[in-house]
Amino acid sequence: MSDAVLLKVENMTKRFGGLTAIENLSFEVRHNEILGLIGPNGAGKSTTFNVASGFYRASAGRIWFEGTDISRLSVPKISHLGLVRTFQHESLMPEMTVYENILVGTFSTLQDAQKRHDRIIETAEILNLSNYLNEEAGSLPHGVQRMVSIAIAFASRPKLLCLDEPLTGLNQTEVQRALAVFRRIKEEFKISILLVEHNMKAVMNICDRIVVLDYGVFLAAGSPQEIKTNPNVIAAYLGRRHEQ
Ligand SMILES: Nc1ncnc2c1ncn2[C@@H]1O[C@H](COP(=O)(O)OP(=O)(O)OP(=O)(O)O)[C@@H](O)[C@H]1O
Ligand SMILES: [Mg+2]
Repeated sequence: MSDAVLLKVENMTKRFGGLTAIENLSFEVRHNEILGLIGPNGAGKSTTFNVASGFYRASAGRIWFEGTDISRLSVPKISHLGLVRTFQHESLMPEMTVYENILVGTFSTLQDAQKRHDRIIETAEILNLSNYLNEEAGSLPHGVQRMVSIAIAFASRPKLLCLDEPLTGLNQTEVQRALAVFRRIKEEFKISILLVEHNMKAVMNICDRIVVLDYGVFLAAGSPQEIKTNPNVIAAYLGRRHEQ
């Protein structure tokens, strides 16, 4: 496996009873890149996250993280290796403060109380949450809550941060701010990002490469420009079935 490869999904299939949500999917995330994973509703994007991060077990295939086979590892083991994810729907602890929420994200990697505190302060600064640290997370505006969910995941300083529709419900200013945060995470911390997102303008703007899924099947991979002009991708998004 090339040194440039961080996550390698190899011939992954995931069935739920009679339904094949992902079929024989292969793709890789490289070091220091933002990879977009896109596809219409029900294409299998969240399922890919669930399998890669250990929440679900693949029905077939393998997943490698820095050359280690993580296909059968537990969620905590996978996150300890450096792969963490956010959820499509809010996953923070609404009755805890923003500080306490981010603290939870530091548990797996830091033991020392002072180091945890410093990590929380730094994480809040990067996610534009410094002014909300003592607020109850559940009482904050939606856009801020989305940033808290990302802060929890980012607080462990993973090697790969998987974000499941982080921009949903954000206004234009919040989207721009979030994209600047993602760039900073990649550039300053050398963390790769696997981004599932329906906001195509944002995806095209921020991703180094894009993988397209359609009904659980790999459709295309390439640069934003290649994906934009790929006839199969255009057909899938317009609702027509591709012919191959
Ligand atoms: N736990 C589950 N049990 C049964 N079927 C599931 C489960 N999770 C997902 N599915 C099915 O797998 C398929 C892919 O779902 P998934 O949530 O991965 O799609 P998605 O690409 O994330 O869609 P969206 O863009 O709407 O979030 C769908 O048909 C869905 O109903
Ligand atoms: Mg989803």
